[in-house]
Amino acid sequence: MPRVTEREPLRGSVSVPGDKSISHRAAMLGALSRGTTLIRNYAPGRDCLSTLECLRQLGVKVESQDTTVTVHGLGLAGLSEPRDVLDAGNSGTTMRLLSGILAGQPFYSVITGDDSLRDRPMKRVVDPLRQMGASIWGRHGDSKAPLSIKGGSLSPLVYRMPVASAQVKSAILLAGLYAPGETRVAEPAPSRDHTERLLEFFGATVIRSHGTVGVKGNPPLQSREVEIPGDISSAAFLLAAAAIVPGSDVVVRGVGLNPTRSGFLDVLRAMGARLEVEPVPAGGPEPSADLRIRYGPLRATVIQGQAIPGVIDEIPALAVVATQAQGVTLIRDAQELRAKESDRLRVMAQGLVAMGAQVEELPDGLEISGPTPLHGGTARSCGDHRVAMALAVAALASPDPVNLEDPECIAISYPSFFKALASIGGYPL
Ligand code: S3P
Repeated sequence: MPRVTEREPLRGSVSVPGDKSISHRAAMLGALSRGTTLIRNYAPGRDCLSTLECLRQLGVKVESQDTTVTVHGLGLAGLSEPRDVLDAGNSGTTMRLLSGILAGQPFYSVITGDDSLRDRPMKRVVDPLRQMGASIWGRHGDSKAPLSIKGGSLSPLVYRMPVASAQVKSAILLAGLYAPGETRVAEPAPSRDHTERLLEFFGATVIRSHGTVGVKGNPPLQSREVEIPGDISSAAFLLAAAAIVPGSDVVVRGVGLNPTRSGFLDVLRAMGARLEVEPVPAGGPEPSADLRIRYGPLRATVIQGQAIPGVIDEIPALAVVATQAQGVTLIRDAQELRAKESDRLRVMAQGLVAMGAQVEELPDGLEISGPTPLHGGTARSCGDHRVAMALAVAALASPDPVNLEDPECIAISYPSFFKALASIGGYPL
């Protein structure tokens, strides 16, 4: 277990790995396109490698060198039946988005994942994909992986999603590529729109109107060159660290700033953080920017309602920032966090309380009173990469050492996290 301790101010400039959500989608759409798709700055975490491995098992030739990935597309109808079970590892995005693609295939496939993923809700994709005509079975009344899928001959669907989920929306839109006519989805609150953007970039017709998004079936998808921007969900931990460590002044370069993902910055601003955003040119359909943050006094805020999907992966980092902000921060309507890689409401509340924070777990959120001095001890990540990074950041506000359990899980999304932190004066390696 690495021991992490309070350090000097964080200073310097650092870049973060490519965006995980965009990387998965670029690889999948490359596979379904005709021609060779070149992806630069592909996310190096284990989740996105799981997607590449699954695509290989479906007959797609994928080459990768460092973070450059070449996908030799087979067209919409070119995938072949996998000889073995597909393994999505820890990655919900791999499992749910691939389920949408597999629903459109006239062959049999089985997709599974690790202990955490096999416990996560899959009925939310099984139901709409069945309505489109796919046969899908799973454990626990078809609600949990492994999922077995026999697809093909899909009909278009008009679907009102019960939860705001980009993974569910994307699974339906990807299945919609295999249905004649228009498949349309409405969501209760706007979730990340990377699938829509990339579908258009690869040549599909995407129709947006009045809170719904649709795709026309059987589009002529064409290969592309895509540059993946830095992952704002990874940047969030470095920004959170600089926000709470006195004297810090940090620039994170080339961060994806899709408006459906940048809610974290809005919340930091509402808390009084000193943040500057400098747009930089992007090599794809996603905007990106350099972000500078300087330490300053922070005040509590309220995060709830329609704002939640835009910060869903950043709430662990925000919870840590809130422990150092003046007043009571309220996070509500975030019950979806209980269905992530861990029950993030419970695990973050327990982890921060164990370090001396005042955190109350609510059924749908957290109530955090601050500022509170944090102290050392053992930080339990429960195998959840974002919890592990959030607690490592919290440890920077503690004068004594913190033993972080299971730090290896961070490699799911951000293998070089400790290196990046060390490069701006954070933990020693
Ligand atoms: C993701 C969507 C979100 C997010 C996850 C990645 C995606 O999940 O939490 O880390 O890439 O579409 P939900 O769709 O379950 O909200």
